[in-house]
Amino acid sequence: MKTLTPLATVVVLGLLGASFSANAYDADWKRGRIYYRSVCTSCHVALPVGSINPNTKTMAEWASYINADKHANGKDTVKQYVSKAYRASIKSANKAAEKFADVPDQELLEDIKAFLTKGAKDGEAPASCS
Ligand code: HEC
Repeated sequence: MKTLTPLATVVVLGLLGASFSANAYDADWKRGRIYYRSVCTSCHVALPVGSINPNTKTMAEWASYINADKHANGKDTVKQYVSKAYRASIKSANKAAEKFADVPDQELLEDIKAFLTKGAKDGEAPASCS
């Protein structure tokens, strides 16, 4: 077992490093807003769903919604609509998807989360989509 210890240490340090770097990312709520309005809302509006404003949920509700990652009542995921693959599939018709084509998925998700948190019912600046 002793021989495993250095490996275990490396794994633990690697995990710590990963979580530190995730925390170190300074979310850009403005980029989140652009993406939310241009990609998320444009689909919601086109479908009978209608726009889903950030101020319809509290900060805690948005946090658990994003963490649960069950979009459209669990039919698909929120992450899927944030992914590079999805952006690539719509970028010819969607400027925001084109502009942010190369942003890492996790960063864009953090940006959207920051926008939704800021615009939440009890957030810093409750926001509607219009
Ligand atoms: C391709 C279309 C489409 C895109 C893109 C899309 N949504 Fe949706 N979204 C839907 C549909 C359809 C529903 C409603 C499902 C229902 O009520 O059965 C929905 C519902 C929702 C809801 C209400 C709760 C729920 O999950 O039912 C939230 C919140 C939401 N979407 C967030 C997002 C976010 C955030 C993004 C962008 C990262 C996004 N959506 C992108 C189609 C889309």
